[in-house]
Order: sequence, then structure tokens, then C-alpha cells
Amino acid sequence: MKVLVIGGGGREHALCWKLSQSPKVDKIYCIPGNAGISEIAECRQMEYEKDFSSLAQFVVKEKIDFTIVGPEVPLVNGIVDYFQKRGLAIFGPSKKAAELEGSKVFAKKFMKRHNIPTAPFRIFSDPDKAIKYVNEEEGEKVIKADGLAFGKGSLVTSTKKEAIEAIELIMRKKAFGEAGRRIVVEERLRGKEISFFVLTDGKSIKPLISSRDHKRIYDGDKGPNTGGMGAFSPAPISPSLYEKILRRIIVPTLRGMKEEGREYKGVLYAGLMIEKGEPRVLEFNVRFGDPETQVTLPRLKNDLLEVLWAVHTGNLYKINLEWRHHAAVCVILASRGYPGKYEKGKEIQGLENLARIKNVFPFFAGVKKENGKLVTSGGRVIGVTALADSLKRSVQDVYRAVSKVYFEGMYYRRDIGRTGLTKRARVVE
Ligand code: AMP
Ligand code: GLY
Repeated sequence: MKVLVIGGGGREHALCWKLSQSPKVDKIYCIPGNAGISEIAECRQMEYEKDFSSLAQFVVKEKIDFTIVGPEVPLVNGIVDYFQKRGLAIFGPSKKAAELEGSKVFAKKFMKRHNIPTAPFRIFSDPDKAIKYVNEEEGEKVIKADGLAFGKGSLVTSTKKEAIEAIELIMRKKAFGEAGRRIVVEERLRGKEISFFVLTDGKSIKPLISSRDHKRIYDGDKGPNTGGMGAFSPAPISPSLYEKILRRIIVPTLRGMKEEGREYKGVLYAGLMIEKGEPRVLEFNVRFGDPETQVTLPRLKNDLLEVLWAVHTGNLYKINLEWRHHAAVCVILASRGYPGKYEKGKEIQGLENLARIKNVFPFFAGVKKENGKLVTSGGRVIGVTALADSLKRSVQDVYRAVSKVYFEGMYYRRDIGRTGLTKRARVVE
């Protein structure tokens, strides 16, 4: 089979890497890909967020059998509907289903309609009314732009002043453009955050192995949110919590979507806050996590193509997902300045050292080739994953590997995976 992966980050590198191990895959294309992905896939520089006509023409011309979409923007813009109308096989949810991520207002109202536990909220399209509400209400608030905002549209605040500044930033200064025309103001939840992923073909549900990401920029989960600074797997959850997440969140979400004519197919990512054993939804994403994918796929024993194809063809019930007992940790190497304005064009050195270490995988994100050299081209540059027989060993291995890589201004968190090592943190109840 010839497959096309859409996207060009660490998640897509991990997808291509895993697909490249499938005996059923003859050739991988990636749009736009990056300097790491181009080692295993043929990369093409093409617009991929809305120009679906060119993408579909490319797929027909190259006789590509199956397209797998990494990022949310093309999904929210309807790439799956466009391809399906033309009889092209594609993995991911339809435009109507992808609204779970595309509109936080939709997602919150949907959860309310279906009694799915989430933080209490109000919706505003008038900044004065939102500010008045925040002034009158007690308790910490999270202010969220309705639409897509590169994962940065949720501002967690501690005081009224911060909440008002966040409203001003989103609605008056239009920091996220049209995405901030409406906002959600919701109660700030406390507890332990986990990512929960399921694959579904609309009939069966198969949860992926547990993982947890580290969203904040600084050690100890301090500082602003980023796209993700690292992840580890497993992040074991107790059997009763697991069952509760499926019964109270995943099943009613998928059932509710179907009832509303928005049948969900693909991978659903629920970002959850667990407080005193009770899960509540922080957010839904309609795609694989980045960097959670970089720790889950190295643990997957199955042929990824077979699994994703089964989702597409409605045969997921035939698949038994199997996982290596190993633990995986991924540390993101970021450019100085990220998640704000960051530096680019810095030469990356030492990667050849990683090729010699067993069970260490560098997944490229913001990397490009310039005059034969690898240089930085994004905020998140490389995610280094290590796989070992315990979480402790993976943490040791990953940091040993990271110490061999260098670029000017390279920043990374020193505590990735460590929260999973303390006795209390090991199992989320
Ligand atoms: P989102 O943009 O909804 O994906 O949220 C991004 C991040 O903001 C989440 O991963 C949480 O860390 C944080 N967050 C979102 N909503 C809340 C909430 N209600 N309470 C506390 N933290 C939140
Ligand atoms: N790991 C966060 C995300 O994929 O959105």
C-alpha cells in the first residue's frame, strides 16, 4: 500500500516511523514532512490546511491508497469529507465530528446536553458582559477562545485581574483573531491531568495505552502552556478510574455524537482532570497527541497500518491492541524563547550519536536541512524518546541521549517522567 501522512511535526515523524515498519506499506509520502521524516518518506511542500483539491489530485496522481491526517486544522476544515466524497480512503473524523475540537463552545454545550462531566462554564460574545461576570463571580477562571488557536487559546488564571486581562487579550486585542470572537469562561479545576486516547470506527472503541504529557514550559509544571514539552507512558490509572472514564465520558460522547448526526471515527483524545477519583473533561482533541504519540507508538506491537485501516473499514472489532511492557519517555528540545517568539536557523549537532544507542528515537519537529546541515526551524525542534524496561530506566536513558545533542539556545525540561516515579503519582486513582 502507498500511504500519505499529513503534517510535519514530531507526531507525524512517529507515525511515519511506525508505518515504515509495516510489511504492508510499500511507500510513504508526507506533506509537508520535515528533515527527519524525509529519511523514511517522500516529502512534498504543499499547502495542507485548506487546499484539499490539490491534495486530492496528488493522491490520485500518485495512486495513494490511504491518507492519515496528523494535525487538527485540516480535519476541522473538512479534509475527510472532501476525500470521502471523491472515494479516497482517509483516517480521521468528519468536519461535523471534528467540531469537538474546532469549537470549544460546541464542545461545552455538547457535554452539557449529554451530562458529560466538565467544568461549569458560561459563554460570551461581548467582552463587557464577560468582564462583568468575572467581577461578580468567585473562584479562579480559565478563559478559552472558542476556535483553534495553535493550542494556546486557553488561559488559566488565578485572579480576577488576570481573568480580565485574558478576556481583553482574546476579545479586544484579538490575539487569536476570529477564534476569539466568542469565549468560554469556566471554573478552574484542580487535580491531576491525564490524556486518554481511544480509537473508534463508530462501532467499537479501543483505548490506547496510558500516557501523560507535560504542557507547561518550566520544570514543576510552571510557566505558560506549550504544545507539550514531553510525555511518558505508562501513566497507570486505577481500574475503577479507567472504567469510569469509559462509562461516563467516552461512551456517552461517542453515542451523543452519533445521535446528533456527527458519528465519530478516528482517534479521540480526551484531556481530563482527575480530582478525588472523579474525571472531568478539560478538552477534546480529534487527533493523536503530540508528544504522546512519540511515547505510545514505540510501545505498540501491532502493525499501525492494519490498525488504522481497520478503523477506516469498520473492522476495529477484529483488532487486539498489544503493547510492549516497556516504559517510554519523550523529552522535547525547544528553541530559546518558545512558546513565545523563538530563534531559528541554529545548527543542530550530535544527532549521529543517537543513532548508535539502542531504543532511543529522535523524532524531528522544527528541523530543516540547509546547505547540507540540520538547522532549527520551529519552537519544538526534536523529541527524543527512550524505551526501557522501567520508567526509571527510560528517564535515565532519555537524558543521557539528550546530553549528546546540542544547538544554541537549546532548552528542555529536566523533570519529564519524574512525576510518574514518585510512589503516589504512579497510579492515578
Ligand atoms: P485546552 O486549550 O482546553 O486544551 O486546555 C489547555 C490546557 O489548559 C489543559 O491541558 C489544562 O492544563 C489547562 N486547562 C484547561 N481547562 C482547564 C480548567 N477548567 N481548569 C484547569 N486547567 C485547565
Ligand atoms: N499534547 C498536547 C496536544 O497534543 O495537544
